[in-house]
Amino acid sequence: MSGRRSRISQTIVLVGLMGSGKSSIGRRLAERFGLPFVDADAEIEAAAGCSIEDFFERYGEDEFRKGERRVMKRLLEGPVHVLSTGGGAFIDPETRETIAAAGISVWLRADLATLLDRVGRRNDRPLLKDGDPSEILTALMDERHPIYAKADITVDSTDGPPRQTVDRVAEAIDAYIAGLDDDSP
Ligand code: S3P
Repeated sequence: MSGRRSRISQTIVLVGLMGSGKSSIGRRLAERFGLPFVDADAEIEAAAGCSIEDFFERYGEDEFRKGERRVMKRLLEGPVHVLSTGGGAFIDPETRETIAAAGISVWLRADLATLLDRVGRRNDRPLLKDGDPSEILTALMDERHPIYAKADITVDSTDGPPRQTVDRVAEAIDAYIAGLDDDSP
């Protein structure tokens, strides 16, 4: 593990839609790599002093994205860690640049059934409040998947035990870093 840890010199940034497993996979991945885990949504809530749900209600999505940009910059300037992001973070061009400059991005790609199953376990996501979650997620998949596809690494986040997805992510990161090393002079 320590050998692997020393190879990771940039923050691992998990991106993907709501319900793709960014927090649960991120937490396990951090443990496996021996790195700290940070949840960007929780950091935004701590900085704002209220829940994301309340923040959206009081100030709207544009203000939320501004706060998200600031928090993501601060986190990516800090020590190397595993960072799970809110589903819209990587969609914001400025935040995407911040991630590209300082992190290794991993898209956790999941199908609609998996996403729906997972988002059904919570009801505090502002973007899913006004309408049918299946329709909203389908529209978000159309809109956002081509952008998530710009991530450095793509891994399928499946319905099975989280350990299987963690295994795949860890292997993909090792292969990605090995590829970077091959490119170095
Ligand atoms: C959002 C996803 C949420 C949260 C906010 C907006 C999005 O995070 O940041 O509600 O735009 O997809 P999760 O992906 O962790 O649910």
